[in-house]
Amino acid sequence: MFEHIPAYPGDPILSLNEDFQRDPRTNKVNLSIGIYFDENGTLPVMSSVREAEAAIVAQGMPRSYLPMSGLPAYRDAAQALVFGAQSAARAAGRIATVQTVGGSGALKVGADFLKRHFPGSQIWLSDPSWENHRVVFEAAGHTVNTYPYYDDATGGLRFAAMRDTIDALPERSIVLLHACCHNPTGVDLTKDQWRELVPVLQRRNLIAFVDMAYQGFGDGLEEDAACVRMLADADVPMIVANSFSKNFSLYGERCGALSVVCKDAAQAQRVLGQLTFTIRANYSNPPMHGARLVAGVLGDAKLRASWDDELRVMRDRIHEMRHAIHEGLAGRVDEVMRARYIAQVGMFTYTGLSAEQVETLRVEHGIYLLRSGRMCVAGLNRSNVGYVAQAIAAVAGPGARP
Ligand code: LMR
Repeated sequence: MFEHIPAYPGDPILSLNEDFQRDPRTNKVNLSIGIYFDENGTLPVMSSVREAEAAIVAQGMPRSYLPMSGLPAYRDAAQALVFGAQSAARAAGRIATVQTVGGSGALKVGADFLKRHFPGSQIWLSDPSWENHRVVFEAAGHTVNTYPYYDDATGGLRFAAMRDTIDALPERSIVLLHACCHNPTGVDLTKDQWRELVPVLQRRNLIAFVDMAYQGFGDGLEEDAACVRMLADADVPMIVANSFSKNFSLYGERCGALSVVCKDAAQAQRVLGQLTFTIRANYSNPPMHGARLVAGVLGDAKLRASWDDELRVMRDRIHEMRHAIHEGLAGRVDEVMRARYIAQVGMFTYTGLSAEQVETLRVEHGIYLLRSGRMCVAGLNRSNVGYVAQAIAAVAGPGARP
């Protein structure tokens, strides 16, 4: 019966991470998946989260089903973090927010919702974008297109081409934008570029679908969400997917949220109902534990302050590692390639290494990057950064084999 089922070739990120786990070499370095490791190379358990968890466990609460839309305290906390506690749209009750199964779950619920209610709309992603964006939207039945984004020659942004392409899209098209720490390139729009793009989205009557998986890993929690707030203030129809995987180090708990910014509170109520329906059709209701942890931290002033501090330490360490590898490559690779490590922002750098060079790094040095050349700089630490710089110089420096 199942003879015709083809083999799954694997996922460019998750399967590679599984290969890394199986690699027996002790000097291996994981710079593939977007996971923050600390200076010791371990996955941190944040002390704010640990404290919230101890309180939750002590309560010994029963585990009934959550509402389909999720834990109310979590939904409220997520909305406040994404849009700002003082957001006018939030005060007007015109944002519909649901808890989702991670950021990917938010994208899936958003994709299904849009497919059902905007069947004629197509979606545009940045070129390149996170590999799974295309997968999720195509699986939900969308036609996926791209707009110009990354400039490989400079390691920067093709902003004019991006803006002009978006300016020519059919009305009600969906434009997927990364709020901060663009995945995979680490290249973000400046504030001025956002200011220029927002009126284009508004004038063309487009839907902004903002993915914010790395809030707090760029310039700060508020700064990283600036474009979301700008879009909300400008009344651009907007959907925001956010994730707490990275900024709470809660990857396996699958904590995400999806928010739709509507024209008024009545519209938001109807949209909330349809999102709820989409959730019921996919997985009924979301899991409870991670949501309680996030709500526990964000709902307690002391824990919230200590979480802010812990996140700042992560952000600063990434910054330090960017400088360390930049330093380590001095005189060893060409300057345009080297400059990317400090010019790009967040967990990722688009190194400019070819697929062959990435393969050599993996096979000969046990260093894992994505085939696209994306490096997760959050996997670097003081102990491995010298080794990584040396290996990159060996595969991409002047003396490297062609
Ligand atoms: C990544 O981009 O590496 C992460 O977001 C993990 C994933 O699910 O792909």
